[in-house]
Amino acid sequence: MNIILLGPPGAGKGTQARLLQEHYHIPQISTGDLLRGEIAANTALGQQVKALIGQGQLVPDSVMISMLRARLAQPDCARGFILDGFPRTVTQAEALDQMLAEMKRPLKAVIELKVQEDELIRRISGRLHCATCGAGYHEMYNPPAVAGVCDNCGSKEFTRRDDDKPETVKARLKVYNEKTAPILPHYQANGLLRTVDAMLPIEEVNAQIEAILEGLENAVPGAKKQGLGGA
Ligand code: AP5
Repeated sequence: MNIILLGPPGAGKGTQARLLQEHYHIPQISTGDLLRGEIAANTALGQQVKALIGQGQLVPDSVMISMLRARLAQPDCARGFILDGFPRTVTQAEALDQMLAEMKRPLKAVIELKVQEDELIRRISGRLHCATCGAGYHEMYNPPAVAGVCDNCGSKEFTRRDDDKPETVKARLKVYNEKTAPILPHYQANGLLRTVDAMLPIEEVNAQIEAILEGLENAVPGAKKQGLGGA
């Protein structure tokens, strides 16, 4: 199953992608995480993109398209993938269409996570990550079970993303509205777009997405239930 999660910064793409990854055993491909990995490793690419990300601007399409092509060629994507953060421009969406057609891996659905802007800002301003394993939390909405201790690895150190500063968040939202939202009609026109109310709690958003995916799977004549991991 090949799916895209689309939505503005803080809508919950990463949170939902991780839940779907556990449920369907297909990898989350977060282009933001890939770029942050390059920055952390201080690679040439990381040095090139650090300032752009810090200003809330997009990395050039050519860089992102090559990065995604290489990631999709890895064996763990053979049974499917969840794209989180790609495509982000009409050019990226068109390149992805071409790439997937060449690979004979059609998209199952493009899930739009719809959230009001004031809520996006609350979500981003309360976001935390474990400094050791990277697990994501929110101070109020999704805190660790034991305050100040990562559920996943027990670390007591937490960090915030550099681009979660209020002035950068404003720029990221503007970029989303100007460059990414125009992709939605592309997927509406080809019948792939499904919109969920992502203002709801995490578990309820997840239930909406899984219901959509199960519905699409069952709508295919002769599709097998366990076939969700397939194309
Ligand atoms: P990226 O890392 O993709 O950031 P983003 O799209 O701005 O999205 P976020 O990671 O901020 O939010 P999210 O929707 O994943 O929300 P989350 O689940 O964390 O990209 C970063 C940068 O990299 C870009 O600005 C750009 O510079 C560059 N880049 C990346 N891809 C690119 C591309 N293709 N082309 C060009 N440049 C690219 O949730 C947020 C918080 O809310 C969390 O604390 C979470 O616990 C909480 N939460 C989640 N869901 C709920 C809920 N339902 N209720 C309550 N709280 C919730």
